[in-house]
Amino acid sequence: MLSVDLDELRSITLEILDPGKELADLIPQAQALRDFFERRTDFSIDSGRDIGEGATRLESGLAISPTLAAMCLRELFRTPAFIRGLHEAVSDALRPGRPVRVLYAGCGPYALLALPLMTAFSREQVTFTLLDIHLECLDKAMALIASFGLADHVDESLCVDATLYQIPTDRRPDVIVSETMAVCLRNEPQVSIARHLLAQAPTARMVPQSVSVEMGMVDWTKEHVLMPADHVGEIPPPERDRIYLGKIFELDAANIGRWQGLEGSRLPAGRVTIPSPIESRHKPCLLTRIVVYGKHRLQDYDCSLTMPQPLPGRPAFAGGETLQFHYQLGTYPELVYEVLG
Ligand SMILES: C[S@@+](CC[C@H](N)C(=O)[O-])C[C@H]1O[C@@H](n2cnc3c(N)ncnc32)[C@H](O)[C@@H]1O
Repeated sequence: MLSVDLDELRSITLEILDPGKELADLIPQAQALRDFFERRTDFSIDSGRDIGEGATRLESGLAISPTLAAMCLRELFRTPAFIRGLHEAVSDALRPGRPVRVLYAGCGPYALLALPLMTAFSREQVTFTLLDIHLECLDKAMALIASFGLADHVDESLCVDATLYQIPTDRRPDVIVSETMAVCLRNEPQVSIARHLLAQAPTARMVPQSVSVEMGMVDWTKEHVLMPADHVGEIPPPERDRIYLGKIFELDAANIGRWQGLEGSRLPAGRVTIPSPIESRHKPCLLTRIVVYGKHRLQDYDCSLTMPQPLPGRPAFAGGETLQFHYQLGTYPELVYEVLG
């Protein structure tokens, strides 16, 4: 029974890792992984329960509830993109002599990004340290991993706040993976976690490799093609009407290095100028772009993390204003801006 299940997990994983497939081709595999994990664990997504119950508001942002963390499994593009990206990062870090050490900050109740890869790499090739602030997540993740007979891939599982975790100097990770973010890097602690962990292991490969937020002006009515319900055949791609104003923030290893030593609760971010004259159909928006690792990317609308967002407050600009952004750290982290005139 165990080996049958392990074979099934390995076969879903190998399909997800198939380089010949696009993310859109992998929806059946992402659904199979979701059904498989949901069937095998006693962690149930209880529709009668408040899905936000059990979240923890940390000094670095919100650690989402175990139920919401479990629901990440239902993001059909995000999950394969992260599994593929982490696979590539581990492959790049493979070395003779010892396993690649992966530090997984915020593993959730399924250790979703790591567990499939335990079937693709041997314990001699890769081991994982799992962190989560919620004990329920760690317990469920470890029980699921053990149910496949893969517990020896886990070096350690620790119930800690990743923004406070001190990495033992003799166990510096080769890869750090964390998906503790919301769209536009708002509200959740991804930025603080990445900064804190990468400062202790500066040569580690980071997954995601980069999360950036750009500002643009969009005509929301052109973002999607609406087809009649009885339409048959191909759906034409949308002809979007956008003006890109520039990148305002990027979380990556280079910037984390630049921010080292910065005191206080602000990180520097970019400045953009609103076009003048401004067309009334064009509204200011923020676009989140994720390079999971290498060529593995999440683009607009691929998942909840990359949904284009109206600029907070939905301000009406006259045209020609300059906006100066910064990233505000703290219990409610987010990008904020002031209008310079
Ligand atoms: C968005 S879920 C992701 C779950 C899983 N890794 C996945 O990708 O499907 C984020 C997880 O990180 C945990 N988390 C958030 N902030 C944390 C922190 N500062 N330290 C440790 N765990 C944290 C939450 O408890 C939650 O389980």
